[in-house]
Order: sequence, then structure tokens, then C-alpha cells
Amino acid sequence: MRTPLVMGNWKLFGTKDTISALIKGIEGTANSTKNVEVVVCPPPIFIEHVAKLTQNNNLKFGAQNVSEHITGAFTGETSSDMVKEFGAKYTLVGHSERRQYHFETNEMVARKFMAAQNSGLIPVLCIGERLLDRETHKTFEVLEKQLKAVTNLVGVAAFEKAVIAYEPMWAIGTGRVATAEQAQEVHSFIRSWLRAQNEVVAEKVQILYGGSVKANNAKNLFAQPDIDGGLVGGAALIVEEFVGIIEAI
Ligand code: PGA
Repeated sequence: MRTPLVMGNWKLFGTKDTISALIKGIEGTANSTKNVEVVVCPPPIFIEHVAKLTQNNNLKFGAQNVSEHITGAFTGETSSDMVKEFGAKYTLVGHSERRQYHFETNEMVARKFMAAQNSGLIPVLCIGERLLDRETHKTFEVLEKQLKAVTNLVGVAAFEKAVIAYEPMWAIGTGRVATAEQAQEVHSFIRSWLRAQNEVVAEKVQILYGGSVKANNAKNLFAQPDIDGGLVGGAALIVEEFVGIIEAI
């Protein structure tokens, strides 16, 4: 059985004080909900702060992005080794905002995935189609390209120690959530695509849904057989919302 996973992506939000309050607000639920893993992804500058605040509770944390390089003259970057040194368990790679605003290609995302695994982090590979792709029936084609870039570089077996987050771009931060049926259809496609290459990996890998997940729509999404949890943006910044989402598992 796959362990359900709820991840909060805080994006470029927070101060030391608001982060302390947020963790205080959610740690009780994370501690008492034994069958679900709860992860928060702060901006990199707050990783050490979060590492301290999660020492004595069940919360885990991850980065929102890492460099494809481990060391070198790459001003402004943070490496997977550095993030790992502070105790992170995960890192997102290829979040759609990175692809869209920072021009990350499928190949670059694949290299970040590899760097993360080489450092001992679990990469959370974010994939998803644009509205235009969906409207022109290219969703599966786009997702396959995004997945293939990774399997071409590291092989399908690498997904044994990775997570996939399906995040349709039209649902991120828009309040327009995919229906449970739409999400399940895509999750099932992703799992079948993996199954055709490696059955063990396909059954093992957690596939999260992301895009306007809220406390009031999480239950329906999480009830789907191939949805193993959520990657949550806006609602992860509000204690009651995030707690509600964890409890919906
Ligand atoms: P959202 O963001 O929940 O605010 O739509 C999800 C994400 O970007 O991971």
C-alpha cells in the first residue's frame, strides 16, 4: 500500500513568525494522523528555521527547487546537497512556475531530478498540461514528454524513490480545481504508462494531485484509486484549510 502524502508548497510567502505560527497550527494534526505523511516546502532561506521547528514533531520538509549543479559558479542557486545537509527529505522539481517563469525545460528538470536523488533527496516531479493542451486533446502527449525526459536520463526504476505530482497548469492558483474524474483519468494514465515499463515501480510510486486543492474538495480527490495525496499551494498557508486537507485523507 502507498502511504498517503500531503505536501504544502509555500512558494514565496512567509516570515519567521508566520512560519512558526503555521507549524504550530498544523503539527498536532500531523502528529495524530498516523497514516499520512505531512510535508512542508518553505522558501530556501527558511529551511534551517523549519528544520528546527520540525525536530520534535512528525512533519517533514522539502525544498521547492534545487540546482541541477552540486557546486560551482552558479550565483543564486541552492544545491540538493545543501538542502539535504539541513535535513530535508524531499524537493519539488519542475513545478510549473519554474517551467513557466524560469524557463526550465523537460531536460533541465530531469537533471534536477537526478541531482536530487544523487544527494539522497526524494524528488517530487511536477508535471501538468496547459489549458490549450487540454482543449486540443494533447494532455497525455505533454505528460508523456515530461515523464520521458526523466526516464531517458535515469531510467524508470528511479521512480521507486520519487513522487509524481500531477498539476494541471490551468488549476494552479486559479480556484479552478480538476474534477475528481478528470484527475483520476490522468493519474491512471501516468500509472499505466509506468506499468508498461515496470509494474513494481508503477504500484509503488505516489502520485499526488495539485491545483486549487482545498479542505472542501480534497476528500473527493483523495477518494480516487490512483490519487495518493495532494500538493497544496494557497491553502497550505492557512492552518484550518491545511488541517482540513490532511484530515480528508
Ligand atoms: P494551488 O497551488 O494549490 O494554490 O493551486 C498548487 C501548487 O502550485 O503546487
